[in-house]
Amino acid sequence: MTTVSQYHQRTKHRFNRYAKGPETLDWDDQPDPFRRFEGCEIVSLPSPGVDLSVSWRQLDRPRQIQTQALSLDTLGLFLELSFGLSAWKQYGPDRWALRNNPSSGNLHPTEAYLINNVSALMPQGVYHYASYHHHLERRAAFSAAEVNDSLLIGLTSIAWREAWKYGERAYRYCQLDIGHALAAMRYAAAALGWRLQLLTVYNDQEIAALLGVDRVDEFVDGERETPDLLCRIDYKNADEFSTSIEREREILLETLQQADWYGKARSLGAYHMYRWSIIDEVEKAAEKRDHQLIGVSEAGQTVIESAGQANVSSIIRQRRSAQHFNQHAEAMPTSNFYRMLSMLMAENNPLLDVWPWRPATHLALFVHNVEGLSPGLYCLPRSQAALLTLRQQFSDQFEWRSVDQFPSLYALHDADLKQIAKALSCHQAIAANGAFSLGMLTEFKDNVEQSDWHYRRLFWECGYLGQILYLEAEALGYRGTGIGCFFDDEVHSLLGFSDDELQSLYHFTVGEALLDSRIQTFPAYGHL
Ligand SMILES: Cc1cc2nc3c(=O)[nH]c(=O)nc-3n(C[C@H](O)[C@H](O)[C@H](O)COP(=O)(O)O)c2cc1C
Repeated sequence: MTTVSQYHQRTKHRFNRYAKGPETLDWDDQPDPFRRFEGCEIVSLPSPGVDLSVSWRQLDRPRQIQTQALSLDTLGLFLELSFGLSAWKQYGPDRWALRNNPSSGNLHPTEAYLINNVSALMPQGVYHYASYHHHLERRAAFSAAEVNDSLLIGLTSIAWREAWKYGERAYRYCQLDIGHALAAMRYAAAALGWRLQLLTVYNDQEIAALLGVDRVDEFVDGERETPDLLCRIDYKNADEFSTSIEREREILLETLQQADWYGKARSLGAYHMYRWSIIDEVEKAAEKRDHQLIGVSEAGQTVIESAGQANVSSIIRQRRSAQHFNQHAEAMPTSNFYRMLSMLMAENNPLLDVWPWRPATHLALFVHNVEGLSPGLYCLPRSQAALLTLRQQFSDQFEWRSVDQFPSLYALHDADLKQIAKALSCHQAIAANGAFSLGMLTEFKDNVEQSDWHYRRLFWECGYLGQILYLEAEALGYRGTGIGCFFDDEVHSLLGFSDDELQSLYHFTVGEALLDSRIQTFPAYGHL
């Protein structure tokens, strides 16, 4: 078995044993969720919180959204809507920040860096985005005249932040968070009339060199960042860049070798009580080593249009995870249910264009309370090609009745599955009390056999779909919650899987949220 497969098997939660994690947690000693570099020049960004006049429904046709000129204002807004704070919460003496991108356990392992070549915007260089201060820290200075219009954004993960709480399973959560972050950036870009391209041509070593996270002496031991992905921000929305992606790669790699670097990462503070060596091993095994350049996907076209009048910026800022759902809520109208499902399909969601690979993630849905649909188990293959595999893998006891109003959805089995959904999702009531919950089934075996790094790509795809669900739910007046805690093989055996052809990597739930009035809310950037 490969290291990646071993890791995957070993970090499955089981009914009789959770994946290995710390036995005790000192909550006062949580790793700092805000990375800071000391000794860097700071570039202030204009005040956060500005509203855009783009409504949610306009995202159905992103090409028609007016392209905002690139400036520190619009760049600041892009960063804020992707990674900035959304609120502070307080309960008794505990106070914590929430962000526009969600994160497993609110631990936020994802860090974001800009590689700026637009000299009219700010001096060329590599910048770390510090969400707490909403400013940029200039990590590197360089000049690369030949690519004087390119602006890239790269993401990295600090696995230790997640591992502190979740132990060995943490690596999975970091990857899911990257998928959420990628989608968060795509939606923020769309609100500004911009696009985003995932640059598959870079391997991990190159991303690390460009972002400076391979400069180990500038990070505290055990708190290093691993590279994840790099995107080009298409702020002209015109496919018009002076340099090709391949040429830009050559120039940047050469330029960054001669750049001047500044600053040192401040310690995240917490005492490292446990070492999870399996995370170091899987990180290494799942490193992306290839340079395959894959173009942008064709943009999908919505089939069920949004009626959302609210600003995109306010939907993004108000997105929250529901901690409780109203189990007595009225049934969710099918139009809302189908709108959400349709936006998960690449051919129907223009904002899935950043995902360059064919869909490899499909849904097993536990429908609890949707108008006109019998409660039960449903399956949504996200590609026609996958239907056959899914039917072969699922137990042959299921019916596979195509649903008239939404023919790509199949009804498998009518039943009240609330208690089962709850039990499978680590006994969390949120999986039972909403309108529906679901498991994301990935084409695991083929992808991981092709390349170990595809393991991460599958989680990213799940995270991306999760972020679409969060935002679409919010725009429709519902709320979602990502569910990283579930009993893997118990889900698989319920569906009838006999091998690892398909594996569930993420769960999600949507419904009418109940708010906890004991928790107080404060403005996101009141501290500035
Ligand atoms: C990958 C992932 C897994 C999550 N798993 C769970 C979970 O199992 N149970 C839960 O109640 N919330 C879960 N959440 C929700 C997070 O706790 C939530 O995003 C975080 O506390 C930040 O709050 P916010 O989403 O309201 O900004 C998950 C979120 C993500 C992104």
